[in-house]
Parts: sequence; C-alpha cells; structure tokens
Amino acid sequence: MVYFVLLLGLAQSLKRFSMEMSEESGKFSEWQTMEHVKSFHSITLQVGQPPQNLSAVVLMDGKRELMIASVKGANPSRVELYNSTASSSYVRLDSNKWYGDDKAILACDKVSFGKMAAANQTFVVVSLNSKSKFDRAALPLWYDSKNDSTNFLNSLKNSGAVNVNAFTVDFENNLLTIGSREEESRKPEDAITFKLAVDTWTADFATISVKGSNVASNNKVNFALEQEDISGPYDEVNLFKSLAGTNKTCDTGASTCECSEDFKGFPALEFNFSGVIFTVEPRDYFSYNNGTCTFRVSDSGQWTLGAPIFEEYLSIFDGDQGTATFYRYHEIKKEEETPKPAEETEEEVEEESSSDGWIIFAYILLILLIILAVGVLIYCRCMKAATDYTKVV
Ligand SMILES: *[C@@H]1O[C@H](CO)[C@@H](O)[C@H](O)[C@H]1NC(C)=O
Ligand SMILES: *[C@@H]1O[C@H](CO)[C@@H](O)[C@H](O)[C@H]1NC(C)=O
Ligand SMILES: *[C@@H]1O[C@H](CO)[C@@H](O)[C@H](O)[C@H]1NC(C)=O
Ligand SMILES: *[C@@H]1O[C@H](CO)[C@@H](O)[C@H](O)[C@H]1NC(C)=O
Ligand SMILES: *[C@@H]1O[C@H](CO)[C@@H](O)[C@H](O)[C@H]1NC(C)=O
Ligand SMILES: *[C@@H]1O[C@H](CO)[C@@H](O)[C@H](O)[C@H]1NC(C)=O
Ligand SMILES: *[C@@H]1O[C@H](CO)[C@@H](O)[C@H](O)[C@H]1NC(C)=O
Repeated sequence: MVYFVLLLGLAQSLKRFSMEMSEESGKFSEWQTMEHVKSFHSITLQVGQPPQNLSAVVLMDGKRELMIASVKGANPSRVELYNSTASSSYVRLDSNKWYGDDKAILACDKVSFGKMAAANQTFVVVSLNSKSKFDRAALPLWYDSKNDSTNFLNSLKNSGAVNVNAFTVDFENNLLTIGSREEESRKPEDAITFKLAVDTWTADFATISVKGSNVASNNKVNFALEQEDISGPYDEVNLFKSLAGTNKTCDTGASTCECSEDFKGFPALEFNFSGVIFTVEPRDYFSYNNGTCTFRVSDSGQWTLGAPIFEEYLSIFDGDQGTATFYRYHEIKKEEETPKPAEETEEEVEEESSSDGWIIFAYILLILLIILAVGVLIYCRCMKAATDYTKVV
C-alpha cells in the first residue's frame, strides 16, 4: 500500500515534469485555444513589450496568483520562458515572495489573453529548477469576490476589458473564454445550474448517490479542470465503486470491470445540489479498453470533479452570480431500467432494426447485381463460343 502511494506520487510528479508544448500556437481572439499538455490544459499568454508568447497551464484549484516562469541563463526547457530583460515594460516590485516551494519575485508587466489586455498586471516570477512543480506559467482561473484583487481575471474586469466575471471551458472545441458566458446556441431548458463558491469553485451537495443508494451526504465537491480524474474520500469512493459494480464482474484491486463499449448496465453517479441533479455517467467515470472498463476515480480528501466532467459538459463558471452552469455535449442513450424512456428505447431499437433492414436490402441488391453481372458475362462468353463454333462449322 505504501509502495502504491509512493508510486502514485512518483507518477504524479513525473507527469508534472514531462508536460510538453504542442507545436500548434494559440489563436488570438477573445477566446483561446486550449492545448492538451499531458494531463494539463494550457493556453497562450502574451507578456511584456514586445509581447512574448508564453504557454500557461490553467488551474482552478489552490493557487491564486498568476505565475510566470522564467529561467536564469540558457533555457533547458522546450517551452518558451519569460525573459524580463527583453521586455521594456517590466517592473520589479518585490524579490522576497514565494510561490509554493519556489522562491519568487513580485513584478508587473503587460499581460494579454487573446485580444484582452491587462496593461499593468502583477504576477510572480518563478525561476524554474528541476524541483519545480511546473514547467511553464500557471494561470489560476480565480475571481476575488472583493474588487481590490490584482489577480488576472479581476484585472481584466477592472480594466473594462470584459463585462462579466465569468469563464467558459469548452473541452470539445478546446476553447477557454474569459469574460463571457458562451451559451448562445444552447437551449435554456438544457442548462444545469447551481450555486457554488467562486473563491474555491466548490459546491455544497445534499447527497451523492447511485440508483438511490447514498454514497455521501451534506458535504462539498470541488471542480478542477486540471485534475485528470474524479476523486473522493477513500470509503465513499469504494462504496461508489461497489455500487456501480453490483451484478457485474469487477476486479476491486485493479479497479476495473468487464464491460461493453457502450457501458450498458452501469448506473450514473448522481450529485444532488439542493434539488438540482447533476449526473456523472459511466462513460465519464470509466475509461474503456478492449472489454475492460477502468475507473477514472481515485482517493482524495474531498470530492473533486476533474477532466471527465469537462469532457461531458460545456462548463460555465460565473463569478458575479456565484453559479456553475453545465450543458451536456451529447445525449445519453437511455436504458430499459429507467422507467419513462422505455418508448425511446423502443424507437431506438426500431430505428436500429430499420437501418439493419436497409443494410440487408443493400446486400441483397448487391448480390443480385453480382449475379446479374456474372450472368451477363457467361451469356456473352456463350454467345462468343457459339459464334466461334458456327464459324468452325
Ligand atoms: C506570438 O504569436 C503570434 C500569433 O501566433 C505571432 O504573430 C507572433 O509573431 C508571436 N510572437 C513571438 C515573439 O513569437
Ligand atoms: C533575454 O533578453 C536579453 C535582451 O534581449 C538578451 O540579451 C538575453 O540573451 C536573453 N536571455 C535569454 C536567456 O534568452
Ligand atoms: C503598476 O502597478 C504597480 C503596483 O501594482 C505600480 O507600482 C506601478 O507604478 C504601476 N505602473 C504603471 C505604469 O501604472
Ligand atoms: C465589485 O464590483 C461590482 C461591479 O463591478 C459590484 O457589483 C460589486 O458590488 C462589487 N463588490 C464589492 C465587494 O465591492
Ligand atoms: C442483482 O441481481 C439480483 C439477482 O439476479 C437481483 O435481484 C438484483 O435486483 C440485482 N441488483 C441490481 C442492482 O441490479
Ligand atoms: C435532493 O435534495 C433535496 C434536499 O436538498 C431533496 O429535497 C430532494 O428530494 C433531493 N432530490 C432527489 C432527486 O434526490
Ligand atoms: C482483447 O481481449 C481479448 C480477450 O480478453 C484478447 O484475446 C485480445 O488479444 C485483446 N486485444 C487486444 C488488442 O488487446
């Protein structure tokens, strides 16, 4: 067990060190392309005068201040790092700061996210070394409910660059939008909206349940796009896994279950946010490979919903209203066990069988055509043979 924890820690730190920059550069509009760098998502910030294009991972958990990575001397990283000497607008404010375990400098410079700029943004400059947790800049997606904060998202609002303290995470199109709610093309009735604390991106749930059995009650869940799985307290996670695996062939040690590619027969994990139901589907909490489903669920101090739910939902976090709003990207195929959608299932089956019917029809047509072609060929050969024969005669 201890070894497992150590290995897990090692794997985590290796992941953090081995982030790589994708070759593609960001698009500079009001929204920005997010690149997937190993388990993280990064965007491009332009810092300084003239602007330096710096890759920054986006975070929702823990950190508050914008961190700009720099390096003393030659840059050993494949990622471009900040060179303050090369910026005419750089101002050093304080050299006795810390960013986690890294010694940092408090400074300010011009910072832009796409077309939106904060002319005099304060941030910490960390000179990276091999022990650093990050290999590039880090942008915490955080709003301070007090207006005097100097963090980047608040600066954009205070400088009038954006109208609302909101951001939209669109994993399907790899876009991050700061300062607006990107939901124009969505149906209002599809919105799942509930209250959450914008300082921590944490929501209070009444229950977490599987098919009516409670897994947890009256606690908090954290949203964190930088976390690659879903996690929760050890006992509750195990209870969830055993409920999800009821009547299924599962391997508790390996955290896997035998399954089909459509995850048929597995239940959803339901979060009840004071009456608003938010579901995590089997396709979210499992990863599928060759008949085996592996839980994307690990242990942590409190429930945290990471990348899997951002893959399921377009996600809008609104710092002014103190809400989170989710829109599902793809509908869920209903199963027979849920009472109401029985008709839908039948329709689906009908549709499937009617499309099967078309395929069979096409095959028969094809076979008939082949028979016809072969027939014509034989007929022609016979004719030819026949004429040859008459010639000889
Ligand atoms: C930064 O990226 C933009 C857009 O891709 C590009 O036009 C500009 O030349 C880049 N600047 C540097 C210093 O590489
Ligand atoms: C930083 O910029 C200065 C001025 O442009 C340049 O002389 C120096 O070589 C650069 N440092 C690195 C590490 O690229
Ligand atoms: C930028 O802000 C810092 C403190 O936050 C201040 O000392 C400095 O004068 C400001 N610079 C400009 C150009 O406004
Ligand atoms: C912060 O500013 C917004 C408007 O920009 C205002 O509605 C809100 O009341 C302010 N909050 C505080 C704590 O001053
Ligand atoms: C598991 O199977 C048993 C017997 O086949 C059945 O009674 C029970 O309802 C099933 N439980 C679930 C959660 O499907
Ligand atoms: C969700 O929780 C509320 C209490 O906050 C409760 O009244 C409601 O019945 C629950 N809904 C479901 C579907 O469990
Ligand atoms: C998939 O699983 C089957 C049986 O478990 C095995 O025979 C086959 O080699 C596996 N295929 C791959 C690509 O791993």
